[in-house]
Amino acid sequence: MSSGRQAASGADRNIARQRRFWARRAASWDHGAGDNPGLLKVVERVLGEADPSPESFAVDLGCGSGQVTLALAKRCRTVVGVDVSEEMIALLLENAKREGVSNVEGRAVPIERLGLPESSVDLVVSNYALHHLRDRDKQTAVNEAFRWLRPGGMLVIGDMMFGRGGDARDREIIGSKLTLLLRQGPGGWWRIIKNSGRYLIRFQERPVSMSAWAAMFNKAGLIDVQAIPVVNEAAVVRGTKPKPPGNGSPFRETSDQSAPNDERHGNSTGRRGSSANIVMATMVPLRIR
Ligand SMILES: C[S@@+](CC[C@H](N)C(=O)[O-])C[C@H]1O[C@@H](n2cnc3c(N)ncnc32)[C@H](O)[C@@H]1O
Repeated sequence: MSSGRQAASGADRNIARQRRFWARRAASWDHGAGDNPGLLKVVERVLGEADPSPESFAVDLGCGSGQVTLALAKRCRTVVGVDVSEEMIALLLENAKREGVSNVEGRAVPIERLGLPESSVDLVVSNYALHHLRDRDKQTAVNEAFRWLRPGGMLVIGDMMFGRGGDARDREIIGSKLTLLLRQGPGGWWRIIKNSGRYLIRFQERPVSMSAWAAMFNKAGLIDVQAIPVVNEAAVVRGTKPKPPGNGSPFRETSDQSAPNDERHGNSTGRRGSSANIVMATMVPLRIR
């Protein structure tokens, strides 16, 4: 009981912190995101992996001012942008209006509190947002996305993905960041101190490695899980909700949707991707801020 109360208040504290942080940063993120070539590459890759159809109903978690949402909306039936920050949602809707995009809905709700009906969504995407969640909330978000997805639907997450030096990719990313910042002189040294605090204390940013994300996807029951490095620390992980055996239609609602996942898909038949396929790509520096 008491640990449940503690867990709830930990999530609430993080939500309140993210809300305050992004209320201050919304305008500058909106202003700078379109000029960041690294971020644009990740957005492009998320969209490429998501491969939506004009009939798709999509959800963008931590949508910000619409970097992925608006591009997706131009290829989907409807996109719901979800963000903890009311300021970001206001910017999303402003940007949608300016671009003449009318099939976007904005919800100022934390991902941790989002409720959607089971098997109601064709595509769940997220870009550069989920590293703000606590680790246990990351797995819950993946589990929830699995529940919201229709059989055959996809979850695609782009984010900074690295651990704290546990593998060669982590060490390469951390080393290249340090080298870049050291070369910048006192300003860069100050950012090393600030970022070390962030990553070590994991107060504001809590990235985890590609393989940790892939493991979460597999644990939730997603199949065909692929982890794809994009630029420097950024990577994309994607996976598909399996269709029940014999269901020929990709997104058809079936009558047994309320059955537990393990009963519906079967542990052994559903999970083709018990370990992730890691696709290697060239690393080039990405500077988000
Ligand atoms: C770095 S921005 C990325 C925005 C956008 N996805 C993009 O690609 O440019 C991170 C976004 O995640 C949102 N965010 C952080 N924590 C969140 C949470 N718990 N629930 C919903 N949104 C959250 C922030 O408000 C912010 O808009």
